[in-house]
Amino acid sequence: MADFALRPATESDSAAIKKLIRRVGINPMDLDWRRFVVAVDRSGKMRGCGQLKPHERDVIELASIAVEPEDRGKGIARTIIEHLIAQAPRPLYLMCRSSLGPFYEKWNFHAIGLDEMPAYFRRLVRLASWFMPKGESLLVMRLL
Ligand SMILES: CC(C)(COP(=O)(O)OP(=O)(O)OC[C@H]1O[C@@H](n2cnc3c(N)ncnc32)[C@H](O)[C@@H]1OP(=O)(O)O)[C@@H](O)C(=O)NCCC(=O)NCCS
Repeated sequence: MADFALRPATESDSAAIKKLIRRVGINPMDLDWRRFVVAVDRSGKMRGCGQLKPHERDVIELASIAVEPEDRGKGIARTIIEHLIAQAPRPLYLMCRSSLGPFYEKWNFHAIGLDEMPAYFRRLVRLASWFMPKGESLLVMRLL
């Protein structure tokens, strides 16, 4: 049996979600707990999270996938991602640094070009060239 379980977030998870997102250094915008699912350990402590974030009409993003550094490699992100994908409409989008492309390809996400991106992602990709670490770019991926 897995040593963690998934559940919908509650308001009392809000601070832990924001803290984890800050800790792992991913997009800190739009972290409304109501859209989140969290992975908790046997003592109820949050170990990972993820959300489905709505943007413009019909555009949904798989976002805020994060796992505490000491709990990685146990399948927590996989469980969160598969749970969220199962309830998401298609297409489903995500944004990640280019080195994580192979990670999301496991679930059949494919990188798309600027011409295929909804406006929200196009804007961010253009901005990202200013703040991405050396050797990385911002990838937008889509699951059909
Ligand atoms: C990326 C991250 C979410 C992975 O979490 P995790 O719980 O360790 O992942 P899992 O254990 O569920 O791994 C699932 C699969 O992905 C693979 N994987 C894990 N991290 C990977 C990485 N960085 N690159 C490529 N593959 C990776 C695992 O080997 C595993 O493969 P398998 O199922 O075929 O054996 C975690 O490292 C993290 O929180 N990173 C910082 C935040 C971040 O970058 N989030 C993504 C934002 S787009």
